[in-house]
Amino acid sequence: MNLDLSVSFAGIKLKNPVLSASGTFGYGYELADLIPLQRLGGIITKTITLEPRAGNPQPRIAEVCGGMLNTIGLQNIGVKTFVEEPLEKLSKIGTPIFVSVAGFCLKDYVETVKILNAQKGIAAIELNLSCPNLKKQIVCADLPLTKAVIKGVKKASKIPIIAKLSPMITDIAELSLIVQNAGADAVTLANTYPAMAIDIKTFKPKLSTVKGGMSGACIKPLTLRCVYDAYKKIRIPILACGGITTGEDAVEFMLAGASAVSVGTASLISPENIIKTIDAIEEILENYKIRKVKDIVGRLCKGKDNDRC
Ligand SMILES: Cc1cc2nc3c(=O)[nH]c(=O)nc-3n(C[C@H](O)[C@H](O)[C@H](O)COP(=O)(O)O)c2cc1C
Repeated sequence: MNLDLSVSFAGIKLKNPVLSASGTFGYGYELADLIPLQRLGGIITKTITLEPRAGNPQPRIAEVCGGMLNTIGLQNIGVKTFVEEPLEKLSKIGTPIFVSVAGFCLKDYVETVKILNAQKGIAAIELNLSCPNLKKQIVCADLPLTKAVIKGVKKASKIPIIAKLSPMITDIAELSLIVQNAGADAVTLANTYPAMAIDIKTFKPKLSTVKGGMSGACIKPLTLRCVYDAYKKIRIPILACGGITTGEDAVEFMLAGASAVSVGTASLISPENIIKTIDAIEEILENYKIRKVKDIVGRLCKGKDNDRC
């Protein structure tokens, strides 16, 4: 069968719906010797900020059952260095590049996005409105700030804007709608879940900041629910992110309404997992005799009273 894995996401043509998730894949080019990066649907860079950041003190990661905790704290080289080196290497890969951006106020976001807009080779900007590892509260918990950031950034950007939200919100579907109405071109659902672990040999927390963000297979059902709820309420596309480790996981998220998916912690287990995910989606489509992957998006909801279920 002549399979078609391509999807159009916020106006960007992706050869398949599988991207690397921010922060779990370096700036995006470092794994070139290990896996064929041109096979990916897209690469989402580590989050960058206006100024470089050292991140949080060690220890910054801990394993938990079915996943991990991290408190990296947005360590990065800053946007000016990013556009000098990593971006140049990334743009040579031939895979759409999504640059993840965070800030501490409206001005940070807008300035960073302006610098990125002056560059070539960026397909989209993912606004990280949801980093749980900073002393300040997450941006998307502050609705006026969230709306101001999206409106401000949209005005400054000709590149599509994807808002990455936290699942730690009372109603993720409502927040997704607010973000859509503020002008976002798509949403990423979702970032990590605040969590902690204690070392019983030392009676101390396993992370320097006590709490961190939980990711990996253990969060998949939680984030799947977020995608399902949001899909019913919004019209902009959803990029799912949460525990996706296999092609089966990816298909589940697409059935619930995701137009594309991103693989995070699974790439830390093995960089090949992202390639295996793409291959497995192909096999599943073949088994069920479905030619176009885009035909499964939101399939769970089709045929119900409400057109989105
Ligand atoms: C070590 C690590 C670093 C991360 N850094 C970032 C980051 O810089 N920006 C961001 O938006 N998300 C970051 N994340 C969150 C992931 O992009 C993703 O949203 C989350 O891990 C859930 O997906 P997963 O279960 O597939 O890992 C990080 C996650 C991990 C494990």
